[in-house]
Amino acid sequence: MEKIRLNMTVNGKAVEVLTEPRQLLAHVLREELELTGTHIGCESTHCGACTIDMNEMSVKSCSVFAAQAQGAEITTIEGLGNPDGLNVIQEMFKEHHGLQCGYCTPGMITRAYRLLQENSNPTEEDVRFGMAGNLCRCTGYQNIVKAILASAEKMNESKETA
Ligand code: FES
Ligand code: FES
Repeated sequence: MEKIRLNMTVNGKAVEVLTEPRQLLAHVLREELELTGTHIGCESTHCGACTIDMNEMSVKSCSVFAAQAQGAEITTIEGLGNPDGLNVIQEMFKEHHGLQCGYCTPGMITRAYRLLQENSNPTEEDVRFGMAGNLCRCTGYQNIVKAILASAEKMNESKETA
């Protein structure tokens, strides 16, 4: 199959990839760009383990062709922080035990990042509803909710002191 050339900005860097039109964005991120934090947990667009931020929206990258991301601004979990400088949400997931196997976590955190941009002061119900596109088999969600509410609080505190 003929390949197409794609240009995107991923985690702040301009990237160019050569891929087939049928290729899913999740596979391009993982296999071509080696950003393997984005996971694949289903084939029915339910689980949200593949969630990334694309053009300021939470997107399930398993249900987007890479070709549709031409020119897009993408943030994956690797762009939200690193082991030496965690993003607030990463820090709060760690502190509140919002992960166990870690497989849903990149998608959860990437989604939570956008959720908190959409609503900086969510209630518990807002968080549960806002995260409904992301499934977790390990945590029972409770600690994920706590971590996201704590992240909102921290982010609001730092806005006040800024
Ligand atoms: S891999 Fe399950 S929603 Fe994308
Ligand atoms: S931490 Fe294992 S699936 Fe969520």
